Amino acid sequence: MNDKKTIFSGIQPTGCITIGNYLGALKSWVQLQNDYNCIFSVVDLHSITVRQDPIALRKRCMDFLTQYLACGINGEDNLVYFQSHVPAHAELAWILNCFTYMGELGRMTQFKDKSAKHADNINAGLFTYPVLMAADILLYQTDLVPVGIDQKQHLELARDIAIRFNGVFGDVFKVPEGYIPKEAARIMSLQEPTSKMSKSDPNINGFVSILDDPDTIRRKFKRAVTDSDGEIAYREGKDGINNLLNIYSAVTGQSVEDSVNEFSGLGYGTFKERVAEAVVEELRPVQQRYADLAKNKDYINKIYTEGAKHAAYLASKTLRKVHRKLGYVDR
Ligand code: TYM
Repeated sequence: MNDKKTIFSGIQPTGCITIGNYLGALKSWVQLQNDYNCIFSVVDLHSITVRQDPIALRKRCMDFLTQYLACGINGEDNLVYFQSHVPAHAELAWILNCFTYMGELGRMTQFKDKSAKHADNINAGLFTYPVLMAADILLYQTDLVPVGIDQKQHLELARDIAIRFNGVFGDVFKVPEGYIPKEAARIMSLQEPTSKMSKSDPNINGFVSILDDPDTIRRKFKRAVTDSDGEIAYREGKDGINNLLNIYSAVTGQSVEDSVNEFSGLGYGTFKERVAEAVVEELRPVQQRYADLAKNKDYINKIYTEGAKHAAYLASKTLRKVHRKLGYVDR
């Protein structure tokens, strides 16, 4: 290994990758990948806290990994793989479960939201899910975790677990930092701009998938919920407009202030068209690369096989250290 720092991040293979995931996470991954040793996983173990159809899940896992690469992740210089191919994630999660308190897990807002949404299936996995996420991160001695703001609480728990474990056994885990983009920290639903854009939203007009075709993208933005005062400004109470300004700024890389100036005096209709066009252009090369990559199964297969092999090697080093500290007999 070189002396670069390490990044770990992942996306759950549920629903479809949205511009929320793209702007909140994937785009940062692409921007940071040359300066770090990066480990990007399709976190399939996480996805079964909610019931999944096996055939659809297998296909979706492949689609997600292909989309990572289509977004510009270099799968040869970075490790890109399926979480279930590296058993060390689950092993470390068990151990960390014994260093995490019920009270901490009960406070996780995502657990509260998801258990309200799936009241018929509040399984133990849903409850301990943040511990698996902590294991994902700590397994690789990760320095930086690029995520959207909705994962901040989980990340803080991962830090707390690492500090607690290190407090007992000495320096075993690196304590990771988060990397949360400013404008795209929390992209909101186009239909309900007070709620997060979610990849499993049953209302498909609420999100834009990174694989939506240009006309679908234009239509979804045209229907985006705004307000009735007709002013393009960024302030409290203008959730729909704020969201569109955030999306535009995250895509173009310019500040929200510059975006407000660019659109001042325009009507909402034209504004929405311009935002839609920026998104269409941003996603055009992604979609072209996706179409090419999807035909190249052997290449994809090589990326995730090699990725898992190397990840398993790195993970085994941390796991061995943990086992020794705990007092397990050497294998
Ligand atoms: P997930 O699959 O819900 O989302 C994947 C990534 O996308 C970000 N994100 C958003 N960012 C901005 N606006 C939004 N509307 C939006 N929706 C989602 C998320 O913050 C995340 O970065 N538990 C994680 C996956 C995970 C993980 C990890 C992440 C498992 N292990 C280790 C980092 C490190 C999750 O469910 O993300």
